[in-house]
Amino acid sequence: MDFGEDIGLWQRKLSDSPEGMARRLAVFEALGIKTGQSILDLGCGGGHLVRDVALAIGDSGRVVGFDTSKDQLQSAGALCPGLSAVHLVEGDATDMPFDDGEFDRLASIQTLEYIPNVDGAIREARRVLKLGGKAALVSVLWDHWRFHGAEPVLNKKMHDAWRQHCPHQMLPPELPGKLEAAGFAGVAQKPIAFMNSTMHENAYASWAAKLVGAYAISNGVKDADAVLWLAQLEKADSEGRFCFVSVPVLTTATAAYGHKQTVAH
Ligand SMILES: C[S@@+](CC[C@H](N)C(=O)[O-])C[C@H]1O[C@@H](n2cnc3c(N)ncnc32)[C@H](O)[C@@H]1O
Repeated sequence: MDFGEDIGLWQRKLSDSPEGMARRLAVFEALGIKTGQSILDLGCGGGHLVRDVALAIGDSGRVVGFDTSKDQLQSAGALCPGLSAVHLVEGDATDMPFDDGEFDRLASIQTLEYIPNVDGAIREARRVLKLGGKAALVSVLWDHWRFHGAEPVLNKKMHDAWRQHCPHQMLPPELPGKLEAAGFAGVAQKPIAFMNSTMHENAYASWAAKLVGAYAISNGVKDADAVLWLAQLEKADSEGRFCFVSVPVLTTATAAYGHKQTVAH
């Protein structure tokens, strides 16, 4: 997906929302962040987690925001002025320009499911972590990511178009096996499910609906259908029968073996 202009803005609005904050809080707590650590945020997007982590680890620590998108990295830079711990690096998760065991912690929120060679990215995640280093990964159960309130046939058409935005629709159930195969242990999972029952200005659902509409149009759905779908959702909201449900899943794991390196602190 191209994160320039509207798409990038809407994606960052999703991160700004209370539901976006909840995912960061879950990751932050799972990682046990301490002053002075070195931390990688894989697929850092607009830099919200990078900023939160930098404020916690202080000047003696280092947080690297890593992303393929120049636009996202530029936004991340704008969000982190004056934070000397922050380093922003462009590149692909399947071939990272970091040394073995360079990081104490690795975070990745809603990114792994977009990477076609997700096994390659997980192997790289293990490689750049120190032995005993922790990973906290959030991926969405996209089969269960759903708007309710629009006319069912049109609603299905919009969701079917949206499915194409992500190659791994149901990554969380596959992650434990993939992580263990790559040299992680102690894998645990926890849902961070939420429901929006209204589309207020800072609701995840408000920005997600715009994204789905624009994506569907760029993937063959008629403009008029997308506009009608958005209007139907708004009508459902005004009549008190709107709902949006998502089930992001937090997966945590510890780097267990396979690389000669120093021990994480
Ligand atoms: C949905 S956004 C999530 C951003 C951020 N983690 C957040 O929660 O706000 C996914 C991000 O992953 C990045 N991304 C996708 N494929 C990638 C890859 N192969 N390597 C690194 N970053 C990637 C995208 O550019 C995008 O910024």
